[in-house]
Amino acid sequence: MGKIAVLTGGGDCPGLNAVIRAVVRRADEYGDEVMGIREGWRGLMEPTMHERLNRDRVRGILHLGGTILGTSRATPFKPDANGKDRVDEVLRNIEKLRIGAVVAIGGEGTLNVANKLSERGVKIVGVPKTIDNDIPGTDVTFGFDTAVTIATEAIDRLHSTAEAHSRAMIVEVMGRHAGWIATHCGIAGGADLVLVPEHPINLDAVCASLDRRHQRSRFSIVVVAEGARIQMDGKKDAELVARGVDEFGRPLLGGIAQVLAGEIERRLKIETRVSVLGHVQRGGSPTARDRVLATQFGVAAADFVHLDRYGTMTALKGTEIEPVPLSVVAGKLKTVDELYDVARVFFA
Ligand code: F6P
Repeated sequence: MGKIAVLTGGGDCPGLNAVIRAVVRRADEYGDEVMGIREGWRGLMEPTMHERLNRDRVRGILHLGGTILGTSRATPFKPDANGKDRVDEVLRNIEKLRIGAVVAIGGEGTLNVANKLSERGVKIVGVPKTIDNDIPGTDVTFGFDTAVTIATEAIDRLHSTAEAHSRAMIVEVMGRHAGWIATHCGIAGGADLVLVPEHPINLDAVCASLDRRHQRSRFSIVVVAEGARIQMDGKKDAELVARGVDEFGRPLLGGIAQVLAGEIERRLKIETRVSVLGHVQRGGSPTARDRVLATQFGVAAADFVHLDRYGTMTALKGTEIEPVPLSVVAGKLKTVDELYDVARVFFA
């Protein structure tokens, strides 16, 4: 078989380098050659954006955040100004570079492209990555544990300052479509309210809850996912705080906590402060748990290639890593489940 091409697409995530290293090490055992493709799918649209990956190249990267390959949200299926996509170029480059199989490490967008290319005959194995944990088919994605750990540490720190000043603290975490990070760090950090995209809430209800809390206690901690939906008087919901869209048409999120804080201060006269954790949740070293999962996924991806299990995604099911068809997960999202009811028990 030809070379195994590895790429990382979409937003970066702690554990990407651990996957790359594991693919290379396992492939090496099989005697397979690995090529790193730079900047996600963009690197397959150009014939020069690649490098040989061997044991030496991946030495010392297990614990590093980011990705040694770089990443982008570029997709060959996006039509240019003349309405032409770049899929044929990708197919030509795959042939030219003698790529036998592609391991695509990415989230929703990357896995969608992987599925479509798989339908066009490319031999692909996907590896699910995102701090948001919103990919279906797998119990969890790597990167999520790191993000939750960082957010929980932040909430722990905010408790003392919130109490000292008798304030409400609004902590904004990532979570575009799903409130997994918010729900987990909310439970782990003892939040008094957790607001997520899956459970739209009215501002009156938010204020009533905080009012109750402040009758009993001097301070409160509210965790809000960046994509949470909060209906505010007259306005549709707080999605309106989105600052336009990025070049891929995705709303630029971030800012919902500030809007909420303004409303709480205005309505309840409770002094309120905001902490937007942003990309701090995504940068830096992965937790031990994420390193292990990422390594399991990388080894399994090389195994699936070796076993011709193409058109699949590595997925954690209990304690096993299994292949799940890309067609089953593509275009779908895993949203917060009954765990939110556990968080709710502790709402004010
Ligand atoms: O997709 C993961 C994610 O962390 C989202 O929660 C967030 O909205 C997005 O990335 C932001 O990514 P960027 O700033 O890189 O566009």
